Amino acid sequence: MKILFKNIKGLLQTLSKTKTYLKGFEMKKLSQINNAYLLINNDEIIDFGKMNSCPKIEVDEVVDAKGKFILPTWCDSHTHIVYSGSREEEFVDRIAGSTYEEITKKGGGILNSAKKLKKTSFEQLYKESSKRLEEVMSLGTGAIEIKSGYGLDLLEEIKMLEVIDKLKKNYPASIQATFLAAHAIPSEYKNKKKKYVDQIVNEWIPIVSKKNLAKYIDVFCEKGYFEIKETRLIIEAGKRHGLIPKIHVNQFNSFGGVALCTKMDSLTIDHLEVLTNKDLEAIKKSNTMPVALPNCSFFLKIPYTPARKIIDQNIPLVLASDYNPGSAPSGNMNFVVSLACTKMGMSPEEAINAATINGAHAMGLSKELGSITKGKKANFIITKTIKSYSMIPYAFGSNLIEDVYIKGKSINIS
Ligand code: NIG
Ligand code: FE
Repeated sequence: MKILFKNIKGLLQTLSKTKTYLKGFEMKKLSQINNAYLLINNDEIIDFGKMNSCPKIEVDEVVDAKGKFILPTWCDSHTHIVYSGSREEEFVDRIAGSTYEEITKKGGGILNSAKKLKKTSFEQLYKESSKRLEEVMSLGTGAIEIKSGYGLDLLEEIKMLEVIDKLKKNYPASIQATFLAAHAIPSEYKNKKKKYVDQIVNEWIPIVSKKNLAKYIDVFCEKGYFEIKETRLIIEAGKRHGLIPKIHVNQFNSFGGVALCTKMDSLTIDHLEVLTNKDLEAIKKSNTMPVALPNCSFFLKIPYTPARKIIDQNIPLVLASDYNPGSAPSGNMNFVVSLACTKMGMSPEEAINAATINGAHAMGLSKELGSITKGKKANFIITKTIKSYSMIPYAFGSNLIEDVYIKGKSINIS
């Protein structure tokens, strides 16, 4: 099935096959073809260019995109969308003055979600999670990473990973699973953290890997959660079993996590709200890509990841939503892009690059997604009629998306 999109006001993020991410200064430019066409065949982009060179061929459908922009779907490389219920009571507590850390100490936070998850059947968890996935797809997300981490025991973690697996089978969005048993210390292991870590390392990782339920390994590397030594053991075990590290680090404290993860060749390091010059130097010398999660900073009122400091050192940066019930109950990548501009000083070009091609790289998917490139998957957003693409971050409360195509098919928003 061939579809021709014609008269596109601006076709964005047209990259050559060899560009699998953009770093630092390269992020300033967002490639664009004005008055363009785009031709897809089934789930693949087969051609694009200026309207005056549009091929005169027979197609099955023509879509007139006059006045509209087409850009790749968002690649959201960090989420926790498989969870049960919500935690708005903690949100209300925080308004009244409690901090995220204080709420955690009182049994709230991740352990609260773990309690709810245990009481939720597989079917119900799948139903709640698919609703969230459908919502973010309608907001332009075409690829998404989803973590476990609210199970905190083997069977519950597997329940989460199997929900992710079922989502993968039933939805067109590209889904990548991450094993995050080291998200918090369950209360029954309160004074036996070593035992919990040993179990993850020696029993759970081998099983999850054997069942092929995850591609990535993650740890909440943070004071009071998992320290450097524990993080190292889990990354090493993950690697031994073929899981690639993507690590939560420096959300509240900088205490050596960045040095460890860069040295261990983690694909990404995520959060980095606290970032020292030493951390920055370590990132600069590595292949590890930093990921900023501005929804979390917005919602918890914590500092934003210093994007300018990172990009101005010619380092690549990724933007992701962190969609989860505690620190970021929204997976709206349009809002993430907007926050990156208003709160982190990124230009619209930098933000769109960070949320598309760089997001794809952060999930190991940039050979097939993240840009308008011949041979890549036909995943793109068609905007409403807008003046310029800067309207996307500018009009932060409005939905400027007219339609979303994932693997060549419209998800029919209206
Ligand atoms: O990325 N920081 C650790 N994990 C999540 C929050 C999880 C939760 O509060 O449920 C995050 O922000
Ligand atoms: Fe997270």
